[in-house]
Amino acid sequence: MFSKETYIARRAKLKETVGSGLLLFLGNEESGMNYADNTYHFRQDSTFLYFFGLAHAGLAAIIDIDNDREIIFGDELSIDAIVWMGTQPSLKNLSELVGISEVLPSKDIENYLKNAQTKKQEIHYLPTYRAEHQIKLQSWLGIYPGAEMPSVQFILGVVNQRNYKSAEEIVEIEKACIATADMHLAAMRMVRPGIKESEVAAVVAEAAFSLDYQLSFPIIATINGQTLHNHYHGNVIKSGDMLLLDAGAETEMGYAGDMSSTIPADRTYTARQKEIYDISVAAHEAAVAALKPGVLFEDVYDLSLKTIADGLKSMGFMKGDSMEAVKAGACALFMPCGLGHMMGLDVHDMENLGEKYVGYGGREKSVQFGRKSLRLGRKLEPGFVLTIEPGIYFIPELIDLWRSENKFSEFINYDKVETYKDFSGIRNEEDYLITETGARLLGKKIPIHTEEVEAIHC
Ligand code: GLY
Ligand code: MN
Repeated sequence: MFSKETYIARRAKLKETVGSGLLLFLGNEESGMNYADNTYHFRQDSTFLYFFGLAHAGLAAIIDIDNDREIIFGDELSIDAIVWMGTQPSLKNLSELVGISEVLPSKDIENYLKNAQTKKQEIHYLPTYRAEHQIKLQSWLGIYPGAEMPSVQFILGVVNQRNYKSAEEIVEIEKACIATADMHLAAMRMVRPGIKESEVAAVVAEAAFSLDYQLSFPIIATINGQTLHNHYHGNVIKSGDMLLLDAGAETEMGYAGDMSSTIPADRTYTARQKEIYDISVAAHEAAVAALKPGVLFEDVYDLSLKTIADGLKSMGFMKGDSMEAVKAGACALFMPCGLGHMMGLDVHDMENLGEKYVGYGGREKSVQFGRKSLRLGRKLEPGFVLTIEPGIYFIPELIDLWRSENKFSEFINYDKVETYKDFSGIRNEEDYLITETGARLLGKKIPIHTEEVEAIHC
């Protein structure tokens, strides 16, 4: 964890922004896979981590702004738990490390909240994403699942701190990005015909686990890269395939890396693969070159899509004015996803708090197919950490659907697209920090140009 001054300062700032009431932080619980003691990997709630630093299950916290109290609720380990898990520091000692002197047993939170309700104190809570959060809100506050009214003031307070990464956070993110780059380099060295996707996934995971890091999300290692989030690892890689790897590490403090690469099964990309790949890289580089404070990320998305449209036009897949095609939504046939997202303690940072607040500064998102999946659209500011991940995908079902509807036939040459229905997909992804003057790559550079990938891959 960081020093206690960091957590004290974060909480002080949040109190100042929200101003009054009581802030309720729900930590996460252990979650049984098939019985209670056989648990999934425990992951603390990221906002709890950000303000209270403790990655232990079964905690909650209150910042009672009106009464100037900061309390962690949790229970000291029983002797049975110590026999099972070994000696652990006491919750009291751990809490002191993050500047909290008041620790109360879990059972006391209900009374504390009910008293606050009786006194008509405003109780602020964040959106829930686990059933256990909903059960707690119901039993402590009488709020039924589906009837939650998360506090926009609280959301904005959290977002306006977590969106701006401090120097010590950048150090952590950079560690995650270096490990993430190593995961990709390991894959580039081993991909070849005859091995299974699962073998690549295992080596990628090992690169994170051997550092005692976790994965920031389940590994995507697939020869069917046209499926955006394909978690199936059962295929054997064949000559002529490309393996799309999208994987990231998470440091012990919970900070994420997130990179993608597309690796040929054979020693080199085929000419057909290289042509499409180069367009995707050109879109990537155009986006990176545009990153600086003040730029609207939605404009960077348009620019990268225009680069894709220009390239696909030169190959005969598209026609007409490229920017008109972008604005109309026609490029979503080839890139039905966004260009990037914020990254920090979550790989899609604070997605649970709402993209409208995190990625759009309160502005409503577009509902256009493709553009609606852009998680970040706001003006960039120093301290933002984000991914750049354009791609080109040939999705047979989407091609068939659009063709049957004659959709955007003024921009799309379906006869040509039809001949690439077996192509799969390409994505490259890197992580950037927005600086005062531009942007800086986080971690170390992974090969991105075809010849760079081929050089490491022989
Ligand atoms: N790399 C995983 C994602 O951005 O969804
Ligand atoms: Mn990503």
